[in-house]
Amino acid sequence: MKLLITGGAGFIGSNFVRYWLEKHPGDSLVVLDKLAYAGNLENLAEVADKIKFIRGDICEPLEVLKAMEGCDTVVHFAAESHVDRSIKDPGVFVRTNVLGTLVLLQSAVTCGVKRFHHVSTDEVFGQIDLSSSERWTEESPYNPRSPYSASKAGSDHLVRAYYQTYGLPVTISNCANNIGPYMFPEKLVPLAITNVLEGKKIPVYKPGNQVREWLYVEDHCSGIEAILEKGKTGQTYFIGPDNPEYSNLEVINKLLKIMGKGEEFIDFVGDRPGHDQKYALDHSKISKELGWQPRYGLEESLRKCVAWYEANREWWQKVKSGEYLDYYEKQYAKR
Ligand code: NAD
Ligand code: DAU
Repeated sequence: MKLLITGGAGFIGSNFVRYWLEKHPGDSLVVLDKLAYAGNLENLAEVADKIKFIRGDICEPLEVLKAMEGCDTVVHFAAESHVDRSIKDPGVFVRTNVLGTLVLLQSAVTCGVKRFHHVSTDEVFGQIDLSSSERWTEESPYNPRSPYSASKAGSDHLVRAYYQTYGLPVTISNCANNIGPYMFPEKLVPLAITNVLEGKKIPVYKPGNQVREWLYVEDHCSGIEAILEKGKTGQTYFIGPDNPEYSNLEVINKLLKIMGKGEEFIDFVGDRPGHDQKYALDHSKISKELGWQPRYGLEESLRKCVAWYEANREWWQKVKSGEYLDYYEKQYAKR
């Protein structure tokens, strides 16, 4: 099989590339990535001689067509992915996430790819009340509430439209919050771990009672593998963990305990505008139909993350410089 992996130099994409090569050593992998701020060739250093890397923009039809030539499968990770950045600069989210996905879909039709897998998020469904025990299913209505989730919802709709209108063999996965190695330290968990390792406090958006579901990135990769191998085209599958419900504050306290630190490392800061209160996915479809189950619980996932960031200081210290410092200053200055 020859796969085109878009966004393969980012967090989840690079984990997927390593996962796939280990499980499917006979396959050829082409990675197309613009190396935007979260894209980093060091994320692929271990496998650099086993893949073809193309630096290119998914919004550029000619670059995309060239990269896709001869590929039978596309796994589409490339995106602008951070909610806080989407609040400050929504335009680039619409360009990359909506227009970029459209360009890829058009090329996939032209190239006659056998499977286009689109990687999406639980955030497209909006938010659940903190007091509610509702869990979304693949049939739940879309109700995005941030520029990021609205742009991802737009991309999901385009993928579905290409299945209905042009018969492109697509699948979609909507996944919960991932954590793991090579995660850009602007997102809560790697930001918290690296701040504590630097002796800095963790900015927790008040009041810290918001709820997310946390999935170890390897489980996301195995979920996508199950969909590529056994999923039905035209279908959407949820990928999420089996953990009990934890608030952000509970997750941060677990992390602090693992790191041997106390609550003095918590800094309550002003909330994110339009902050989604809670996400909760019912992943029984992928489990029943494709036999997929998450392997890691939250405690083990957090321990693995702490161990990785402790062992890879050079990676994140380099990442937390330059543009990052500017971003951090602006993001947290007046909160
Ligand atoms: P990331 O920000 O770490 O990586 C995104 C990658 O896309 C980077 O390598 C970047 O350089 C690349 N990219 C950005 N714009 C591009 C363009 N125009 N052309 C080519 N490449 C471009 O993101 P991530 O956390 O790895 O997320 C990957 C995908 O998974 C995204 O589609 C995201 O919406 C989805 N997702 C993420 C999570 C999560 O918790 N991180 C959960 C569910 C779904
Ligand atoms: O749910 C899947 C989504 O998870 C993905 O689609 C996104 O790409 C990914 O970024 C993530 O979005 P979140 O907004 O949930 O992740 P983030 O790590 O930014 O925030 C997690 C929670 O922590 C959220 O409730 C906001 C809060 N938070 C975040 C930051 C950055 C804080 O309290 N303080 C912070 O400094």
